[in-house]
Amino acid sequence: MKAMLWVVAAGGLLVSAAGYAQSGADVVKAKGCLNCHEVDKKKVGPAFKDIAAKYKGKKEAEGDLMAKLKDGKGHMKIAASDADIKAALKYVLSRK
Ligand code: HEC
Repeated sequence: MKAMLWVVAAGGLLVSAAGYAQSGADVVKAKGCLNCHEVDKKKVGPAFKDIAAKYKGKKEAEGDLMAKLKDGKGHMKIAASDADIKAALKYVLSRK
């Protein structure tokens, strides 16, 4: 049973190493966003829910935040592929 879990875990690593876009929920875990953010509580950074509320109805939010996270403007620079950051932002902005 334990061996099987390892196989599954290793398979997951291979998939992410190959650069397939992960789901937003996976990205925020894998890229350490959750070290500073929580969905519904302020931690080091604001709660994802509060961020979603702040940008609610703003079409350009995803692009603006993408630039912030990718280039480290007003946020720590995030080392992740565009697809991963995009998925993470979609996840963050859809919390409520
Ligand atoms: C080292 C701590 C830290 C990590 C790691 C971190 N954040 Fe943040 N984040 C912050 C802080 C602090 C703020 C508040 C600063 C601000 O409002 O710009 C913030 C703000 C944000 C905002 C709102 C920015 C705005 O303009 O309102 C978003 C979206 C966000 N983070 C997403 C993420 C995502 C996605 C990840 C992972 C890929 C991540 N953060 C990782 C600390 C962190």
